[in-house]
Amino acid sequence: MTADTRPRYAHLTGWGRYAPAGVLTNADLERMVDTSDEWIVSRTGIRERRVAAAHETTASMAAVASLRAIAVAGIDPADIDLILLGTLTPDYWMPATAALVKEAIGNTRAVAMDLAAACSGFVYGYATAQAYITSGMARHVLVIGAELLTRFLDYSDRNTCILFGDGAGAVVLSASDEAGGGLGVELTTEPQGAYMIWLPSGGSKSPPSAATIARGEHFIRMEGKETYRFATRTLATTALAAIEHAGLKPDDISLFIPHQANIRIIEAVAKGLDLSMDRMFVNVDRYGNTSAASIPIALAEAANSGRIKVGDRIVIVAFGAGFTSGAVAIQWTVDPARGALGEAISPDSVHVRPPLDWDSVDPIPDALAEILARPGRVPLDLSDVVPGEPEPAAHPALR
Ligand code: ACO
Repeated sequence: MTADTRPRYAHLTGWGRYAPAGVLTNADLERMVDTSDEWIVSRTGIRERRVAAAHETTASMAAVASLRAIAVAGIDPADIDLILLGTLTPDYWMPATAALVKEAIGNTRAVAMDLAAACSGFVYGYATAQAYITSGMARHVLVIGAELLTRFLDYSDRNTCILFGDGAGAVVLSASDEAGGGLGVELTTEPQGAYMIWLPSGGSKSPPSAATIARGEHFIRMEGKETYRFATRTLATTALAAIEHAGLKPDDISLFIPHQANIRIIEAVAKGLDLSMDRMFVNVDRYGNTSAASIPIALAEAANSGRIKVGDRIVIVAFGAGFTSGAVAIQWTVDPARGALGEAISPDSVHVRPPLDWDSVDPIPDALAEILARPGRVPLDLSDVVPGEPEPAAHPALR
């Protein structure tokens, strides 16, 4: 990769998302732990979440979302210079999942790396991509958020297992001499919250062993209340800082795409910015918290459902383990109808090359196996973007 030092703008030119077909409802969870649909909906806003099938991985979901984003951008996969993949659930510790995605999408020349910032991973990746483009280091960057969280949850712990789901989203950022694209960026890291949400074993401090597994240390742990406090304290201020860096005011922003962790946290963002909830995009009811994937999935749905138009200023804003947070104010410059080009790409056409002479044990947690075997998987339906909310106008390109 070489630098071209012309100043330029980083436009968001492509977007795509993929959600696996398996659905885990609150009623399913009622049969697994001591919880209720009423508790989950009233405390989190989540009604169901997606669960990857045994043949799916973070890389495979990421590759589908990526090819969709590349099709929307109207470029060839070979045109991508840099691939940044935000995830806390990579396929392997090494190689980087981004490298597997690079091969799966048919790119031979990009630099590919993973980015670890938990639920803020996509926003951190977006900011990094923008820096590469505006500095002249890259022309087209693929930024992905992809997670397979359902394989890292303790399905006897009602504090965590109700919250998370699987999926992937991606965007393409492209260099342009025309003004537009990313306008203002704010990123923060507060390590005093490092152990509020974490996964104790598997790293060098506590390598995986029969003993760590017996202690259940390979599952996500969380101090829900502390994490909630951090999120409600941080999200609005982080978004506001990005808006101010862009020389704008909250009222100039037509749509916020916040990390989809909890409807009450999103309501707190709206309150903190003194805006109504109709400026907040919400799909947490259908996906739960998909960590780094949540914003790019929501962004693709917002564009494809007619919630964004050319000239709009939007803000993506996330918080996550670390504690991390990040926001980018973006001017939208591409016809949202192009989203239909991405939806045309079938997941069946995408393959991640498996290792030679090795196969994994069955990756599906026992508690989920029965539910995944259920017939009648629910396919994604863009006319039903936010169940329970007013139906968005169908975009002409998607009718
Ligand atoms: N069903 C029923 N009862 C439950 C459940 C459940 N699934 N989970 C907890 N409870 C109980 C608790 O045990 C507690 O009972 P107690 O009073 O007898 O002890 C009671 O409900 C209230 O629990 P709280 O923790 O006070 O519930 P709260 O209203 O705070 O909601 C929640 C919990 C939803 C986890 C909330 O704190 C939250 O959303 N926190 C942020 C989590 C988050 O966003 N994490 C993602 C971080 S991003 C990343 O990087 C991955």
